[in-house]
Amino acid sequence: MKNLHNIPEIGNFAAENRINTSSMKRIVFATGNSGKLREASEILGGAFELVTPAQSGIHGDIPESGATLRANSLQKAQYIYDHTGGADCFADDTGLEVDILGGAPGVYSARYAGSSKNSSDNIDKLLREMDIQETEASFARAFGIDTVHATRRARFKTVVTLILGGEKHFFEGVLEGRIARSRAGEGGFGYDPVFIADEYPDRTVAELDEETKNAISHRGKALRAMAEFLNSQSA
Ligand code: IMP
Repeated sequence: MKNLHNIPEIGNFAAENRINTSSMKRIVFATGNSGKLREASEILGGAFELVTPAQSGIHGDIPESGATLRANSLQKAQYIYDHTGGADCFADDTGLEVDILGGAPGVYSARYAGSSKNSSDNIDKLLREMDIQETEASFARAFGIDTVHATRRARFKTVVTLILGGEKHFFEGVLEGRIARSRAGEGGFGYDPVFIADEYPDRTVAELDEETKNAISHRGKALRAMAEFLNSQSA
Protein backbone atom coordinates (compact mmCIF):
# COMPACT_ATOMS: atom_id res chain seq x y z
CA MET A 1 0.00 0.00 0.00
CA LYS A 2 1.48 3.31 -1.11
CA ASN A 3 2.73 5.72 1.55
CA LEU A 4 1.41 3.75 4.50
CA HIS A 5 4.23 2.96 6.86
CA ASN A 6 4.37 1.36 10.21
CA ILE A 7 5.76 3.77 12.69
CA PRO A 8 6.85 2.94 16.23
CA GLU A 9 4.45 3.32 19.15
CA ILE A 10 4.11 7.05 19.38
CA GLY A 11 4.09 8.79 22.72
CA ASN A 12 6.00 11.72 21.29
CA PHE A 13 4.45 11.53 17.82
CA ALA A 14 3.78 15.25 17.48
CA ALA A 15 7.24 16.26 18.60
CA GLU A 16 8.73 13.75 16.20
CA ASN A 17 6.52 15.12 13.46
CA ARG A 18 7.63 18.69 14.05
CA ILE A 19 11.33 17.83 13.83
CA ASN A 20 10.89 15.41 10.96
CA THR A 21 13.80 16.23 8.68
CA SER A 22 12.77 13.90 5.84
CA SER A 23 10.92 15.48 2.93
CA MET A 24 7.78 13.46 3.78
CA LYS A 25 5.31 15.02 6.16
CA ARG A 26 3.38 12.70 8.47
CA ILE A 27 -0.37 13.08 8.72
CA VAL A 28 -2.77 10.88 10.68
CA PHE A 29 -5.99 9.97 8.83
CA ALA A 30 -8.81 9.19 11.28
CA THR A 31 -10.04 6.03 9.61
CA GLY A 32 -9.61 2.28 9.77
CA ASN A 33 -11.09 1.77 6.29
CA SER A 34 -8.36 0.43 4.00
CA GLY A 35 -10.15 1.59 0.82
CA LYS A 36 -10.26 5.17 2.13
CA LEU A 37 -6.61 4.98 3.15
CA ARG A 38 -5.60 3.79 -0.30
CA GLU A 39 -7.65 6.56 -1.96
CA ALA A 40 -6.27 9.30 0.31
CA SER A 41 -2.74 8.00 -0.05
CA GLU A 42 -2.97 8.08 -3.85
CA ILE A 43 -4.48 11.58 -3.85
CA LEU A 44 -1.95 13.03 -1.40
CA GLY A 45 1.00 11.66 -3.36
CA GLY A 46 4.60 11.08 -2.34
CA ALA A 47 5.14 14.20 -0.23
CA PHE A 48 2.98 12.88 2.61
CA GLU A 49 3.29 9.85 4.84
CA LEU A 50 -0.19 8.76 5.84
CA VAL A 51 -0.57 6.92 9.13
CA THR A 52 -3.58 5.36 10.83
CA PRO A 53 -4.91 6.06 14.33
CA ALA A 54 -3.74 2.57 15.39
CA GLN A 55 -0.24 3.38 14.12
CA SER A 56 -0.44 6.54 16.22
CA GLY A 57 -1.27 4.57 19.37
CA ILE A 58 -5.03 5.20 19.24
CA HIS A 59 -7.17 2.07 19.50
CA GLY A 60 -10.93 1.61 19.63
CA ASP A 61 -13.74 3.72 18.22
CA ILE A 62 -13.26 7.41 17.57
CA PRO A 63 -16.37 9.27 18.81
CA GLU A 64 -18.72 10.84 16.24
CA SER A 65 -21.83 12.23 17.89
CA GLY A 66 -22.21 15.52 16.00
CA ALA A 67 -25.44 16.72 14.40
CA THR A 68 -23.78 17.69 11.10
CA LEU A 69 -21.12 16.24 8.80
CA ARG A 70 -18.84 19.14 9.64
CA ALA A 71 -19.29 18.67 13.40
CA ASN A 72 -18.57 14.94 13.09
CA SER A 73 -15.47 15.33 10.95
CA LEU A 74 -14.18 18.03 13.30
CA GLN A 75 -14.89 15.86 16.34
CA LYS A 76 -12.92 12.96 14.85
CA ALA A 77 -9.96 15.12 13.80
CA GLN A 78 -9.94 16.89 17.17
CA TYR A 79 -9.91 13.52 18.94
CA ILE A 80 -6.82 12.45 17.00
CA TYR A 81 -5.15 15.81 17.60
CA ASP A 82 -5.82 15.66 21.36
CA HIS A 83 -4.76 12.02 21.74
CA THR A 84 -1.49 12.40 19.83
CA GLY A 85 -0.39 15.54 21.60
CA GLY A 86 -1.08 17.72 18.58
CA ALA A 87 -0.22 15.70 15.47
CA ASP A 88 -1.23 17.01 12.06
CA CYS A 89 -4.30 14.98 11.13
CA PHE A 90 -7.53 14.86 9.16
CA ALA A 91 -10.91 13.14 9.31
CA ASP A 92 -13.80 12.77 6.89
CA ASP A 93 -17.53 12.36 7.36
CA THR A 94 -19.98 11.46 4.62
CA GLY A 95 -23.75 11.51 4.34
CA LEU A 96 -26.27 10.54 1.69
CA GLU A 97 -29.05 13.13 1.17
CA VAL A 98 -32.19 11.91 -0.58
CA ASP A 99 -34.67 14.55 -1.75
CA ILE A 100 -37.85 12.51 -1.35
CA LEU A 101 -36.78 11.75 2.24
CA GLY A 102 -36.27 15.43 3.00
CA GLY A 103 -32.47 15.04 3.08
CA ALA A 104 -32.37 11.82 5.15
CA PRO A 105 -30.43 9.76 6.05
CA GLY A 106 -27.82 12.58 5.95
CA VAL A 107 -25.52 12.62 8.94
CA TYR A 108 -27.17 9.40 10.16
CA SER A 109 -26.32 7.45 6.97
CA ALA A 110 -24.09 4.89 8.72
CA ARG A 111 -26.67 4.06 11.41
CA TYR A 112 -29.80 4.49 9.29
CA ALA A 113 -31.09 0.96 9.99
CA GLY A 114 -29.54 0.66 13.45
CA SER A 115 -26.38 0.81 15.46
CA SER A 116 -24.85 -2.25 13.76
CA LYS A 117 -24.11 0.03 10.75
CA ASN A 118 -24.97 -2.76 8.32
CA SER A 119 -24.88 -1.47 4.72
CA SER A 120 -27.32 -4.04 3.36
CA ASP A 121 -29.87 -3.23 6.08
CA ASN A 122 -29.34 0.49 5.40
CA ILE A 123 -30.09 -0.02 1.70
CA ASP A 124 -33.20 -2.12 2.49
CA LYS A 125 -34.50 0.64 4.73
CA LEU A 126 -33.68 3.34 2.18
CA LEU A 127 -35.59 1.59 -0.63
CA ARG A 128 -38.51 0.86 1.71
CA GLU A 129 -38.78 4.46 2.96
CA MET A 130 -38.57 5.78 -0.59
CA ASP A 131 -41.38 3.44 -1.70
CA ILE A 132 -43.58 4.77 1.10
CA GLN A 133 -42.85 8.38 0.19
CA GLU A 134 -43.41 7.75 -3.52
CA THR A 135 -46.77 6.14 -2.82
CA GLU A 136 -47.79 9.11 -0.67
CA ALA A 137 -46.60 11.54 -3.34
CA SER A 138 -48.61 9.80 -6.05
CA PHE A 139 -51.75 9.99 -3.87
CA ALA A 140 -51.05 13.66 -3.25
CA ARG A 141 -50.68 14.28 -6.98
CA ALA A 142 -53.99 12.50 -7.61
CA PHE A 143 -55.59 15.09 -5.31
CA GLY A 144 -53.84 17.94 -7.11
CA ILE A 145 -51.30 18.56 -4.34
CA ASP A 146 -47.89 19.58 -5.60
CA THR A 147 -45.09 17.33 -4.37
CA VAL A 148 -41.96 19.38 -4.65
CA HIS A 149 -39.41 16.81 -3.57
CA ALA A 150 -40.99 13.66 -4.99
CA THR A 151 -37.92 12.58 -6.93
CA ARG A 152 -35.22 9.97 -6.48
CA ARG A 153 -32.55 12.68 -6.66
CA ALA A 154 -29.80 12.27 -4.12
CA ARG A 155 -26.24 13.26 -3.39
CA PHE A 156 -23.30 12.16 -1.32
CA LYS A 157 -21.61 14.91 0.65
CA THR A 158 -18.23 14.68 2.37
CA VAL A 159 -16.66 17.12 4.76
CA VAL A 160 -12.97 16.75 5.56
CA THR A 161 -11.46 18.52 8.56
CA LEU A 162 -7.71 19.02 8.48
CA ILE A 163 -5.82 20.15 11.58
CA LEU A 164 -2.46 21.44 10.46
CA GLY A 165 -0.11 23.09 12.94
CA GLY A 166 -3.11 23.39 15.26
CA GLU A 167 -5.18 25.30 12.68
CA LYS A 168 -8.47 23.84 11.41
CA HIS A 169 -9.38 23.76 7.72
CA PHE A 170 -12.52 22.34 6.09
CA PHE A 171 -12.96 20.87 2.60
CA GLU A 172 -16.15 19.64 0.93
CA GLY A 173 -17.03 17.38 -1.96
CA VAL A 174 -20.41 16.48 -3.49
CA LEU A 175 -21.48 13.72 -5.88
CA GLU A 176 -24.90 14.28 -7.47
CA GLY A 177 -27.05 11.41 -8.66
CA ARG A 178 -30.17 9.38 -7.95
CA ILE A 179 -31.25 6.24 -6.14
CA ALA A 180 -31.86 3.12 -8.25
CA ARG A 181 -34.95 0.95 -7.66
CA SER A 182 -32.83 -2.10 -6.88
CA ARG A 183 -29.21 -3.06 -6.26
CA ALA A 184 -26.64 -3.65 -8.99
CA GLY A 185 -22.88 -4.23 -8.88
CA GLU A 186 -20.38 -5.76 -6.51
CA GLY A 187 -17.80 -2.97 -6.16
CA GLY A 188 -17.54 -0.05 -3.76
CA PHE A 189 -19.19 -0.10 -0.35
CA GLY A 190 -22.07 1.41 1.64
CA TYR A 191 -24.87 2.72 -0.58
CA ASP A 192 -22.92 2.28 -3.84
CA PRO A 193 -25.13 -0.60 -5.15
CA VAL A 194 -28.15 1.76 -5.33
CA PHE A 195 -26.47 5.08 -6.17
CA ILE A 196 -26.35 6.20 -9.82
CA ALA A 197 -24.01 9.13 -10.39
CA ASP A 198 -24.99 11.73 -12.99
CA GLU A 199 -21.66 11.15 -14.75
CA TYR A 200 -22.47 7.44 -15.39
CA PRO A 201 -26.28 7.32 -15.70
CA ASP A 202 -26.52 3.74 -16.97
CA ARG A 203 -25.00 1.93 -13.96
CA THR A 204 -24.61 2.16 -10.23
CA VAL A 205 -21.43 3.29 -8.52
CA ALA A 206 -20.91 -0.32 -7.41
CA GLU A 207 -20.52 -1.15 -11.12
CA LEU A 208 -17.69 1.37 -11.62
CA ASP A 209 -14.07 0.40 -11.11
CA GLU A 210 -12.32 1.97 -8.13
CA GLU A 211 -10.32 4.46 -10.19
CA THR A 212 -13.42 5.72 -12.03
CA LYS A 213 -15.34 6.08 -8.77
CA ASN A 214 -12.51 7.93 -7.04
CA ALA A 215 -12.23 10.37 -9.95
CA ILE A 216 -15.83 11.57 -9.45
CA SER A 217 -16.51 10.79 -5.81
CA HIS A 218 -17.52 13.25 -3.10
CA ARG A 219 -14.64 12.08 -0.90
CA GLY A 220 -12.18 12.26 -3.83
CA LYS A 221 -13.21 15.89 -4.44
CA ALA A 222 -12.83 16.86 -0.78
CA LEU A 223 -9.48 15.05 -0.49
CA ARG A 224 -8.17 16.64 -3.69
CA ALA A 225 -9.11 20.08 -2.35
CA MET A 226 -7.21 19.27 0.84
CA ALA A 227 -4.21 17.95 -1.13
CA GLU A 228 -4.11 21.16 -3.17
CA PHE A 229 -4.11 23.17 0.05
CA LEU A 230 -1.38 21.02 1.63
CA ASN A 231 0.78 21.27 -1.46
CA SER A 232 0.36 25.04 -1.53
CA GLN A 233 1.44 25.17 2.15
CA SER A 234 4.55 23.10 1.66
CA ALA A 235 5.57 24.67 -1.68
P1 IMP B 1 -18.52 7.58 6.66
O1 IMP B 1 -18.66 8.96 7.11
O2 IMP B 1 -17.48 7.39 5.60
O3 IMP B 1 -18.39 6.60 7.80
O4 IMP B 1 -19.87 7.16 5.90
C1 IMP B 1 -21.15 7.31 6.44
C2 IMP B 1 -22.11 6.39 5.71
O5 IMP B 1 -22.14 6.69 4.32
C3 IMP B 1 -21.77 4.90 5.81
O6 IMP B 1 -22.98 4.17 5.85
C4 IMP B 1 -21.05 4.61 4.53
O7 IMP B 1 -21.22 3.26 4.15
C5 IMP B 1 -21.73 5.56 3.56
N1 IMP B 1 -20.76 6.00 2.55
C6 IMP B 1 -19.69 6.79 2.74
N2 IMP B 1 -19.02 6.95 1.60
C7 IMP B 1 -19.69 6.22 0.67
C8 IMP B 1 -19.44 5.97 -0.71
O8 IMP B 1 -18.48 6.45 -1.31
N3 IMP B 1 -20.34 5.18 -1.32
C9 IMP B 1 -21.40 4.62 -0.68
N4 IMP B 1 -21.66 4.80 0.59
C10 IMP B 1 -20.80 5.61 1.28
